[in-house]
Amino acid sequence: MLYTALTAGSLLTAISLAADVPSYTLDSKKPSSPISQAHVSQFVSYSFEPAFWAEFFGEPDSPRNLTFTLLNHLHERGARPIIRAGGISMDSMIYDPGQKLSAVRTENGKGGIYRTTIGPAFYKQWDNFPEGTTFVSTLNFGNNSIDIAKGLAVASYKLQRDKIVYYELGNEPTNYPESRWKRSTEAYVSQWRSFTSQIDAAISNTSHGKWWASSATTDVTGLKVRPSDLIPAGVNSTGQVGQYSIHSYAFATCDPARERRATIANILNHTDLLRYADSEIYPSAKAAMDSGAQWAIGEFNSIACSGKPNVSDTFAQALWTADVELIYAVRNATSVHLHQGATLVFQSNQQLNTPGDDGTPGFSSYSLLYPIDSSKRGEARVLPVFVSQLLVTEALGGGGRIAALKTPAGIQEREFSAYAVFGRGEKPTKLVILNMKPFYVGGNGVPSTLSLDIGEHSGATVKRMTAPSVDEKDSAKVTWAGQSFRNGKAVGEVTVEALGPSEKVSVRESEAVLVTFK
Ligand SMILES: *[C@@H]1O[C@H](CO)[C@@H](O)[C@H](O)[C@H]1NC(C)=O
Ligand SMILES: *[C@@H]1O[C@H](CO)[C@@H](O)[C@H](O)[C@H]1NC(C)=O
Ligand SMILES: *[C@@H]1O[C@H](CO)[C@@H](O)[C@H](O)[C@H]1NC(C)=O
Ligand SMILES: *[C@@H]1O[C@H](CO)[C@@H](O)[C@H](O)[C@H]1NC(C)=O
Ligand SMILES: *[C@@H]1O[C@H](CO)[C@@H](O)[C@H](O)[C@H]1NC(C)=O
Ligand SMILES: *[C@@H]1O[C@H](CO)[C@@H](O)[C@H](O)[C@H]1NC(C)=O
Ligand SMILES: *[C@@H]1O[C@H](CO)[C@@H](O)[C@H](O)[C@H]1NC(C)=O
Repeated sequence: MLYTALTAGSLLTAISLAADVPSYTLDSKKPSSPISQAHVSQFVSYSFEPAFWAEFFGEPDSPRNLTFTLLNHLHERGARPIIRAGGISMDSMIYDPGQKLSAVRTENGKGGIYRTTIGPAFYKQWDNFPEGTTFVSTLNFGNNSIDIAKGLAVASYKLQRDKIVYYELGNEPTNYPESRWKRSTEAYVSQWRSFTSQIDAAISNTSHGKWWASSATTDVTGLKVRPSDLIPAGVNSTGQVGQYSIHSYAFATCDPARERRATIANILNHTDLLRYADSEIYPSAKAAMDSGAQWAIGEFNSIACSGKPNVSDTFAQALWTADVELIYAVRNATSVHLHQGATLVFQSNQQLNTPGDDGTPGFSSYSLLYPIDSSKRGEARVLPVFVSQLLVTEALGGGGRIAALKTPAGIQEREFSAYAVFGRGEKPTKLVILNMKPFYVGGNGVPSTLSLDIGEHSGATVKRMTAPSVDEKDSAKVTWAGQSFRNGKAVGEVTVEALGPSEKVSVRESEAVLVTFK
């Protein structure tokens, strides 16, 4: 408060002389955004590419321990993720009641997937998820066959109707061959309605009012089917839509030009993350909310086409994921489905990533984990991003409402992000502070630390998400509140720092904290 009359430059100098560490004022009384809706325990959610379902989850009688252990950590903290078995491969998925295994790929030997056949075990496996987990039943629209789509819907309904919260017909229609709807939003809506109403009828109308609509990407394509296009086109004139879903990928390694831009420095530019959210996603979110509807990020991750090694498999991905999930929490997404999978050869013929030997999965480096040992990625293990899921779950837990805070004077907007979380009252109960400035291993000496004056408080505590550097790839060195999770199990004691009365909070470059007020 004492220094607010000074300019940013003089503030820095004045305090560095006094304390050796520059200090800034983070004002949580005047958020820079409206306060969001109260968030639900489904906010932190996932999307898993169905072609790799068995690698991530195993079979019903032999569940993949590592993946379930991670889900249990979230569950213990109150999260109830919605699982979407979705992604590109759902559009060539088919149900075979006679198949023993949960999911089998039909491949060309180099990892190109023509078909994913699922059997009853695919749905039975849902019983191994922590109690209270719900699912999106995903249906193939790519094959343009009502029988294939209906086959999946009927099987999911017969085996797991109580666990299905939404049905989804087709993934990213923006990427279908142009011949299908010839750039006509009306032609798309008309076929979508025809399929969904036939499916509603086949399962006693239990899917009526439970459809996800859109599932579009933000790529610029001839077919305009984002929620902001579909709502005015009357997609819900038959009352079938439960929620709008849109996909968010601001970066990509699908071609060399975009690959060059997919750097740690760029994915951690907070100003650019806001730009993408506000120009590409928010118009659809607003169209949904203005029509009285909810919306979700049905699939997202940092870098499309399976991530970028040395970027998305580092601690930078944890900072990115925490910031982006909170950006969408501020904008009232009801759930955000972080995508998990492996390289899809047919997605692009100029992409950076490749499958492993003999077409074995080349697991996406943006996933929470490499679920099994693989020639491409080495031994099964958890990746540095996982801790971000604990931070966001704990930050929004118990119906948190969240607002963005102004960048303190003297700090670059692109290098900093902060939020206040509210319970039922008007005073923040928590703060999330992310110092997005990259500090690289072997970088220029000692990382600098921001010292933040967060106003008067007493009895506040801090949990810290940290790693030795932003490009750290070993999740054994990446911690949330002192614990790391490389093999699934929490290693180390929970460390909660106590702040003295009105003590400042320090946040190193490439580090985040959750402050909880008493
Ligand atoms: C989010 O929803 C709240 C109401 O719960 C509203 O006041 C706020 O303006 C919405 N935020 C945005 C960014 O639309
Ligand atoms: C994973 O395996 C360990 C050791 O066998 C066991 O203690 C744990 O309960 C298992 N976790 C899950 C989620 O099945
Ligand atoms: C679905 O379409 C793909 C081509 O897009 C084809 O390779 C596959 O065999 C079809 N699946 C079925 C079950 O017909
Ligand atoms: C499903 O809903 C439609 C439209 O509301 C109605 O005409 C039809 O009878 C319903 N079918 C069943 C099986 O409930
Ligand atoms: C779709 O229309 C039905 C019937 O009018 C309504 O109950 C439902 O809330 C609408 N869904 C969305 C997402 O707007
Ligand atoms: C950060 O993103 C903003 C908005 O896209 C852009 O104008 C700016 O040049 C970026 N900064 C850096 C250092 O890349
Ligand atoms: C990642 O970095 C390592 C060295 O740290 C290098 O050998 C490897 O080629 C890099 N991978 C990519 C895809 O850039």
